[in-house]
Amino acid sequence: MSYLRPILSILCILILGYSCKKAKGTDADLLSMAEETEGFTWYKFNDAILEKSTGSAHPQSLLRTKYNATASSALDEEGKVTEGTVFPDGSLIVKELYDDENTIGRWAILYKQSNHEDADDNGWVWGYINGDRSVAAPASNKGEACISCHSQSENIDYTLMNKYFP
Ligand code: HEC
Repeated sequence: MSYLRPILSILCILILGYSCKKAKGTDADLLSMAEETEGFTWYKFNDAILEKSTGSAHPQSLLRTKYNATASSALDEEGKVTEGTVFPDGSLIVKELYDDENTIGRWAILYKQSNHEDADDNGWVWGYINGDRSVAAPASNKGEACISCHSQSENIDYTLMNKYFP
């Protein structure tokens, strides 16, 4: 069976080389959660794709935002985030950014998990993954490109949908 060894090594190199370009670890976990379609609630209970706000830094011009069951416990009767909310651990908020109505160009992800090694001081893990599944900004950056903007006035636990889509 010794002939199997080199074949296996080559396979491993091929697989590793491939997976290097793709999201791994926390980023892959966040991507698979973001791609889930079941169990989410849309902002304002509306799945329409919206024009991005003037405050948005993201290159894609279209977006919509969904909340998993844990995060959606913070939505009020209009489907907006209740003032003063501190999202509980397990909350997942996904902003789908679209290149056009049919093509997701990027996922921007907020995942509350205080004990996570990639969590910031407020317990958020920040994910930023391209539509081709490559990583736009790794979660291990702990939101360094995100927090200065997301901590602006009127944020609710670092979220901004309420401010820009009141
Ligand atoms: C210059 C400001 C700015 C930066 C930088 C920024 N965002 Fe945002 N983000 C916004 C705004 C404004 C919204 C509200 C929706 C919109 O108009 O895009 C938003 C919405 C979101 C949402 C939906 C939840 C909510 O209500 O906030 C997520 C998730 C998100 N951003 C993730 C990220 C991640 C991850 C990064 C860093 C890689 C990032 N953002 C960097 C401005 C920014």
